[in-house]
Amino acid sequence: MEVKINKEKTIIAAMFNSIAANYDKLNHILSLGIDKYWRSVLIKEVLKDKPYTALDIACGTGDITIALMKRGVKATGLDIADKMLERAITKSKKSMKSLRHKSGKQYFLPEYICASAHQLPFDKEVFDLVTIGFGIRNFEHRGESLLEMQRVLKPGGRLAILEFATPRNYLWRNIYNIYFLKILPYIGKIISGDNNAYSYLPSSVGTFPQYKEFSRELEHFGYVNIEMKILTGGVSVLYTAKKMKSD
Ligand SMILES: C[S@@+](CC[C@H](N)C(=O)[O-])C[C@H]1O[C@@H](n2cnc3c(N)ncnc32)[C@H](O)[C@@H]1O
Repeated sequence: MEVKINKEKTIIAAMFNSIAANYDKLNHILSLGIDKYWRSVLIKEVLKDKPYTALDIACGTGDITIALMKRGVKATGLDIADKMLERAITKSKKSMKSLRHKSGKQYFLPEYICASAHQLPFDKEVFDLVTIGFGIRNFEHRGESLLEMQRVLKPGGRLAILEFATPRNYLWRNIYNIYFLKILPYIGKIISGDNNAYSYLPSSVGTFPQYKEFSRELEHFGYVNIEMKILTGGVSVLYTAKKMKSD
């Protein structure tokens, strides 16, 4: 079923709030657990820069934010959906308890903020790292958001974006599309009870610029050192870029 894409902030927030209770479970079921691997690739990549402060935009239930917290990064999670944030807060506190039991290393409980990516409530140049996992395709104002991320990044800081794509190999794309366009929306609807959210997913991926097209967009907004890592035959892509260093 083709779904009309409406990325208005309140509509997107309401949609994610309605699936917040089942989001993690559905993520793992629908991706056959591969979503954990995709996020782990992002974490491994961004830790190479040894970031101290990080902003995880569209943090949802906090999986990336918490993974950063577990590595000692001072992370902030930001999202427009308050119910998703409530779960992120609960999960963070739980993870923090087990971390404190384990070692004497210093960990920082993430701060969570309900705000939109295109109006970040932070001073300029405060984060070493900005991450977004499967969120940017939903942004109402993508260009403004990319500029905002650049504003809050320190010079030389890194942006890392995980997003779905459409596999380029003909055979794999056809097999994958049967699942993604037909089976996934059906299972998503049954488990979440939401008619729209899991039909919206394939439609939103279909309208998002992919691979080189999105890399060019990053370049257009002033990012440098743009790289992409294609994951699971192109089902998902990790884009990384840097904010130019000042002279
Ligand atoms: C598919 S979830 C991804 C959550 C998490 N990053 C993950 O990896 O599971 C997308 C999230 O983007 C958030 N979102 C959508 N538009 C946003 C915006 N303009 N600003 C901030 N968050 C937004 C939604 O509320 C939702 O929680």
